[in-house]
Amino acid sequence: MTQSPITAIILAAGKSTRMKSSLPKALHTIAGRPMLGHVLTSASGLGDAQFVLVVGPSMDPVVAYARSLVPALSVAIQENQRGTGDAVKASLPHVKSKAGVALIIFGDTPLVRTETLAEMTAACSTETPVVVLGFEAENPAQYGRLILDANDALQRIVEQKDANTDERRVTLCNGGAMAIRVEHLASLLGALRDANKAGEFYLTDVVEHARAGGLACAVVRAPEADIQGVNSRADLAAVEAEMQRRLRRRAMEQGVTLSDPDTIYLSADTIIGQDVTIGQNVVIGPGVEIASGVTIKPFCHIEGGKIAQGAQIGPFARIRPGSDIGRDAHIGNFVETKKATIEEGAKINHLSYIGDARVGARANIGAGTITCNYDGFNKHFTDIGAGAFIGSNSSLVAPVKIGDGAYTGSGSVITKDVAPDALAVERSKQFEKPGWAAAFRARHTGHKKAGE
Ligand code: UD1
Ligand code: MG
Repeated sequence: MTQSPITAIILAAGKSTRMKSSLPKALHTIAGRPMLGHVLTSASGLGDAQFVLVVGPSMDPVVAYARSLVPALSVAIQENQRGTGDAVKASLPHVKSKAGVALIIFGDTPLVRTETLAEMTAACSTETPVVVLGFEAENPAQYGRLILDANDALQRIVEQKDANTDERRVTLCNGGAMAIRVEHLASLLGALRDANKAGEFYLTDVVEHARAGGLACAVVRAPEADIQGVNSRADLAAVEAEMQRRLRRRAMEQGVTLSDPDTIYLSADTIIGQDVTIGQNVVIGPGVEIASGVTIKPFCHIEGGKIAQGAQIGPFARIRPGSDIGRDAHIGNFVETKKATIEEGAKINHLSYIGDARVGARANIGAGTITCNYDGFNKHFTDIGAGAFIGSNSSLVAPVKIGDGAYTGSGSVITKDVAPDALAVERSKQFEKPGWAAAFRARHTGHKKAGE
């Protein structure tokens, strides 16, 4: 019995009509990563395998995404979407190996685990050349049913549409993935017919044909949570919820405190160090790396950024792509950073936009400071030196440089570079008209004092 070589055939050519989307189903995201990415990642965990991706015509974005993860992947085009069996047939000319296991995986089953796929390939032997992934479904309505014979061996699979009343009562369902010995693949697929309710070539009929040819078929079971398929937006939400449960559990196992796990959303690629605390209602998008000892206070949105050890973020902060928050830096409420390096110990505590900028070590950015980085055509850089003190409500019109240790006066619109350790103030002189307010009030109300 040999397990290798493995050919992973990934089906993603379906029209995905039930999604009602112009985006191919495989590119809809779960935890910030396209569904297909989850499937490819799980299959890559099997080690050396040849990957064949089956797509429909004009699915270039799907191919480009898949190649970004698995550059050596072969692509098969299924011209007409005539069913899962027809899709695997389209892959045949690309299958390089003449022996071993063909592992067929659906692009719409993103929660499937590497361990389950490994169990299937291990069970797929010359004695048992067909292995089907099965699960007990709480609501089996959208799945094919696994029909067992008197010896509890897999006899055939019947789709919901074609099932009779008794068969519909079966709760053991087809999870989609199937392992078939390569030497039997072409003949089993060749036997498929489209005489069913959908008028499609069902991959699932392989089981009946295998049994008729005297080949044994087995079932590897997995929990429903791992193999629920995505056919609709409601399924997408259900699978997202399950993925979030997994990611939260993993983060907590790695030493992260989640104040209220159900309200914290992570991405599949989120990296979080030990002793990080994340408060309630935080959303972490793709491309985020959080070092140890960081505190993320409630209601923050973070994507595409790095946060160094000991930094404090939020509450109500928005960290956008290209943000690099240094050690022990403080980013407070209603602060937005984008493409900005905030160096060690710098503080931006209230109501600011810092984009296309560097904030030097230990600089203090006053409330309401805005880097005016965009002129409608180009983005310009603001460079704030170490230890600088930016007065509240300063507008820094980029490109502009504030020297180390310099001050800007509150309310200034800074358009010229400020020398190190200087004070720049840009505001009109204050003047006062004594008694003006009282006279004004008297004209309107007849009273001199306010509130009379
Ligand atoms: C399929 C199974 C069903 C199983 C369920 C598990 C068949 C006939 N039915 O049903 O038994 O319980 O998955 O989730 O296999 N695809 C193609 N080309 C096609 C049709 C589909 O590449 O012509 C791809 C789709 O892109 C998708 C996968 O195959 O990734 C499954 O297709 P889908 O239409 O979702 O099948 P289900 O109805 O979910
Ligand atoms: Mg499906």
